[in-house]
Amino acid sequence: MPLSPFNIPQAHHLIGGKWTPATDTLDVTDPSTGAHLTTIGRGTADDIDAAVTAAQTARDGVWGGLTALDRGRLLTRLSDAVLNHIDALASIEARDVGKPLSQARADAIALARYLEFYGGAADKITGETIPYMDGYTVYTLHEPHGVTGHIIPWNYPMQIIGRSVGAALAMGNACVLKPAEDACLTALAFAQIATDAGLPAGALNVVTGFGAEAGAALAAHPGLQHISFTGSVRTGEAIQAAAASNVIPVTLELGGKSPQLVFDDADIDAALPVLVNAGIQNAGQTCSASSRILVQRGVYEVVRDKMANAYNDLQVGPALEDLNIGPLISAKQKQIVDGFLAQGADLTIAAQAPIPTDTGGHYVSPTLFDNVPPDHTLAQDEVFGPVQVLIPFEDEAEAVRIANGTDYGLVASVWTRDGARQMRLARALRAGQVFINNYGAGGGVELPFGGVGKSGHGREKGFEALYGFSTLKTVAAHHG
Ligand code: NAI
Ligand code: MG
Repeated sequence: MPLSPFNIPQAHHLIGGKWTPATDTLDVTDPSTGAHLTTIGRGTADDIDAAVTAAQTARDGVWGGLTALDRGRLLTRLSDAVLNHIDALASIEARDVGKPLSQARADAIALARYLEFYGGAADKITGETIPYMDGYTVYTLHEPHGVTGHIIPWNYPMQIIGRSVGAALAMGNACVLKPAEDACLTALAFAQIATDAGLPAGALNVVTGFGAEAGAALAAHPGLQHISFTGSVRTGEAIQAAAASNVIPVTLELGGKSPQLVFDDADIDAALPVLVNAGIQNAGQTCSASSRILVQRGVYEVVRDKMANAYNDLQVGPALEDLNIGPLISAKQKQIVDGFLAQGADLTIAAQAPIPTDTGGHYVSPTLFDNVPPDHTLAQDEVFGPVQVLIPFEDEAEAVRIANGTDYGLVASVWTRDGARQMRLARALRAGQVFINNYGAGGGVELPFGGVGKSGHGREKGFEALYGFSTLKTVAAHHG
């Protein structure tokens, strides 16, 4: 498949503004069909080294010399350029990662929105003056780290490029991006769009390849001053250990087991589509997926039955048919999710939607489990597939105990009309984001996002990300 209309040569990395041939290649397949699409480069430690050097050169050169205003304008131009290519980006993404076409479109629009937001924010990060001893003027400067590494997953490539690379560039960092081996095509297309839009050479470098090869080489590279990672807990631990060996800061976004709490007084009909969609969107392959639905006893059966009806209506199929749910990203991910479903053999299934057969794609039946004990594997571990568990609770105290009773803490939501309870739970829930009578709120480019516990640390999105992608310098001038 040519990366139409981008004309990017197959199996090349973007290093220092030039498409550079890879020494080895990887096959790219379509998760909806198993068909071969194209090849990408299998990046090596040498490629990573060249990319880090190119980024440092950009920092020391044209890119590093731009004012905040000029960086902001460039990102705004880049946002417009992405908007001009929405259809092409969406169709590439749908085929590369199996995401239903309209969801792929939404991701491309979100990428543009991140660039718009961070373009506008670039010249609005200000320091402070600090009252100090007589004869001193003291102020702070937010400066870029320098060269930042970005290791991203395959579930929302475009959105995560926007929130991670977009914010890093806005602060003036030069980036080395290592996309996931299963989802490189829109990263490459974006690199071409950025180059065409005038992003100086080396400000963004893209090296594709395996995590254990290109990814590990990037995480351990002594030329980095910051690394940002989204993905699994296990890989996050490896990234943090590598960052520790170079004593650089790291942002980790590692997923979750995010609950929605539905109380007896909730507006159930308003909640219903959100309860389901937050779990099955992108086939459940979402860091902030709501995989646990906690329901108060008085409305438990009603909520379960309505959710089960919604599950029975779900349509699963190839990304280009643009149904509710596409395939999982890979045979490996299907194996992981099938393994979890097998561990649910002792549970009651409230509903299970059908999947297409004989397609060659990696489909899994969306499954809703009934009455799941809070300590069950399916109520504790991240499944990363279209699987939700229903858990009944008696009262507020029990709801909080169950909600907070996993290793994770990314997102939580509360459905209740009781204002005092809304306020109590917003404080009591252990999560980086708490939503009241909604969930996810449309992606929320403006809203700081990140986890506690095994969901990771550091904050992305919003202005907060800009502080994460910069370092604070205090200047103390003695003038007498
Ligand atoms: P992963 O964490 O291994 O992959 C994410 C990224 O890390 C990819 O770019 C990969 O190439 C890179 N990577 C892998 N090993 C690396 C290493 N040693 N050093 C540097 N980079 C490395 O996740 P994977 O294997 O694709 O998925 C497994 C599970 O991880 C999923 O079932 C899900 O539970 C979780 N996950 C969570 C995500 C989230 O958004 N929080 C995204 C993707 C996966
Ligand atoms: Mg693919």
